Amino acid sequence: MTSEATTQQAGSTRAGHDRLPGTETVGPGQVGPTGRPLPDFGVPAPLDAHGPARVIAMCNQKGGVGKTTTTINLGAALAEYGRRVLLVDFDPQGALSVGLGIRTHELDVTIYNLLVERGHDIRDIIQPTRVEDLDLIPANIDLSAAEVQLVGEVAREQVLARVLRPVLDDYDVVLIDCQPSLGLLTVNALTAAHGVVIPLECEFFAMRGVALLVETIDKITDRLNPRLQMDGILPTMYDGRTLHSREVVRSVVDHFQDNVFHTVISRTVKFPDATLAAEPITSYASTHSGAEAYRQLARELIARGGAP
Ligand SMILES: Nc1ncnc2c1ncn2[C@@H]1O[C@H](COP(=O)(O)OP(=O)(O)OP(=O)(O)O)[C@@H](O)[C@H]1O
Ligand SMILES: [Mg+2]
Repeated sequence: MTSEATTQQAGSTRAGHDRLPGTETVGPGQVGPTGRPLPDFGVPAPLDAHGPARVIAMCNQKGGVGKTTTTINLGAALAEYGRRVLLVDFDPQGALSVGLGIRTHELDVTIYNLLVERGHDIRDIIQPTRVEDLDLIPANIDLSAAEVQLVGEVAREQVLARVLRPVLDDYDVVLIDCQPSLGLLTVNALTAAHGVVIPLECEFFAMRGVALLVETIDKITDRLNPRLQMDGILPTMYDGRTLHSREVVRSVVDHFQDNVFHTVISRTVKFPDATLAAEPITSYASTHSGAEAYRQLARELIARGGAP
């Protein structure tokens, strides 16, 4: 048995079966799952005033890496800390809207109408959620036509930025849940954003495609949106009991260094469970380690200047 395997076994025995040695079991100053000492991300001070919002795109062209789960739960955690948050569903699958209890097929107006038609008031399309200070602009399958329809528009990459502008002063943070592609909708999200968060699943081919994503972000920074910043790479679906997960995180940190959040999101069935209940994990299972992990992510984002 290798020493790594011995450590792994000892680790899993210590940790028990339901407590993964992920972010939530590590305190400030101790070495976290990213192999670096965990800073103390204190509870953020309440805001004296609200807005203008910092806009963050949740982006990875790989499917199923946790973009939508992170948008809902980071949004809900920021709202718990008194931030006014607007979530934008920018995926024709509408998973973000469904995950917050919206019947998307019954919607007459969505983000699609704001993008391609004139005369809509964005405030009529924004919906409150069951979480205080957490609002949503929903989407449904209609949005799949937008990509083609926008191609002929003047300044076609800037349409979402224009659509969001009237409400930026009402919010502290806007989170855009992108679809798994690098097409025109995602380019619109990156053009409207101040920052980008990249959720990355802790599995073997996770890094494939990240180079292309970073290249795309660089091009957009160059040509369309010079203020765009990389807010951080977020390892998701981490299983600290496996050598594999730990190696993926290590190699991501080797490559991207301080661009990787200290917070790591563990794999737990509570996330799909919360989606089925159409609630953020922070309210569905408020004391669960997964809820704590997204609260820590919110605190880390604020501490890094990625959110007010
Ligand atoms: N940390 C986690 N542990 C376990 N399951 C998770 C975790 N995060 C997300 N999931 C589940 O994995 C699936 C994919 O997650 P999610 O929808 O957030 O990914 P996505 O990147 O938005 O996918 P897509 O590219 O299709 O939009 C969902 O069923 C979700 O409930
Ligand atoms: Mg999604």
